[in-house]
Amino acid sequence: MSETKEDLKYIQLSNGLPLPRIGFGVFQLKYADCYDLVTAALDAGFRHIDTSEVFGNEDVCGKAVIDWCDRNRVPRTDIILSTKLANCSDYTATRASIRSSLHHLGTYIDIFSIFSPAAGSKARIESWGVMEEFIERGDIRCLGVCNYGIKHLEELYASKPKHLPVINQIELHPFLARDDIVNWCKEHNIVVEAYSPLTHGIRLQDPKLVEIANSIGIDVPRLLLRWSLQKGYVPIVQCTNPDQIRDNLDIFSLRIPKDIEDKITSLDEHWHADSSYDPTICE
Ligand SMILES: NC(=O)c1ccc[n+]([C@@H]2O[C@H](COP(=O)([O-])OP(=O)(O)OC[C@H]3O[C@@H](n4cnc5c(N)ncnc54)[C@H](OP(=O)(O)O)[C@@H]3O)[C@@H](O)[C@H]2O)c1
Repeated sequence: MSETKEDLKYIQLSNGLPLPRIGFGVFQLKYADCYDLVTAALDAGFRHIDTSEVFGNEDVCGKAVIDWCDRNRVPRTDIILSTKLANCSDYTATRASIRSSLHHLGTYIDIFSIFSPAAGSKARIESWGVMEEFIERGDIRCLGVCNYGIKHLEELYASKPKHLPVINQIELHPFLARDDIVNWCKEHNIVVEAYSPLTHGIRLQDPKLVEIANSIGIDVPRLLLRWSLQKGYVPIVQCTNPDQIRDNLDIFSLRIPKDIEDKITSLDEHWHADSSYDPTICE
């Protein structure tokens, strides 16, 4: 069966929630610009906003989402608002963090994820249990992880959680393929979110990418985002230019031919945007 445009715009999470196929990230946006940029992203058609306790902008993201829904008479349930626990820790600290995120956002959380596995096994498992309590209270709709390698995922599954992770958000682009983690997630029905899908902006001029993009008449950012979609990922892209925010959504009606998709996939070099940062391999 061929994909319809609607299939391409949503992917179903394991708990049944439809997740928009592309998200707008706010990691390094200037705090003063964040409200307007989230608003611009929603105006452009993004329905998935990705923030984090550690980004320090949950309050303006939440306000932008709530105001935009009110102004446009769109139900809040049409938007997926994701945030993350900065550090795994003990019961008290995790609870305080989640309460703080809820307070700053001013609304419920659609996907609440662990930002990094780096705090160690005990803290990871203890935090997960606290996160589950907030699902039962109705403050969080589903749970996810970020930067989890296979051993962290196996550890979580071995702990027999009541709620399984619906997403794993990892750095992913043609220069960093991570087939092992991606395949594990696919086998366990975990949607893979690709952060830094545009290589954090570092390799947009890469000659190989430019040549491939030129050969099919599109620009490199859309080539990378469309490739991410075709691989089955949910790219989380950041952008400060309202015109480019719109361009980044203009990827649903184009298709990269399979031979070109494979050529892009073959560019893997195990290259990270920040060479000193790979939490997927931490203990
Ligand atoms: N969970 C985690 O550990 C983690 C870690 C990193 C990131 N993330 C998430 O992933 C999101 C995106 O990652 P990222 O910021 O590293 O990288 P990215 O989205 O790969 O790249 C952002 C860069 O691309 C540029 N850009 C965007 N659209 C463009 C276009 N159409 N044409 C030309 N340039 C364009 C931006 O330029 P301008 O800035 O000039 O607009 C910026 O320099 C973050 O905001 C965050 O939500 C999560």
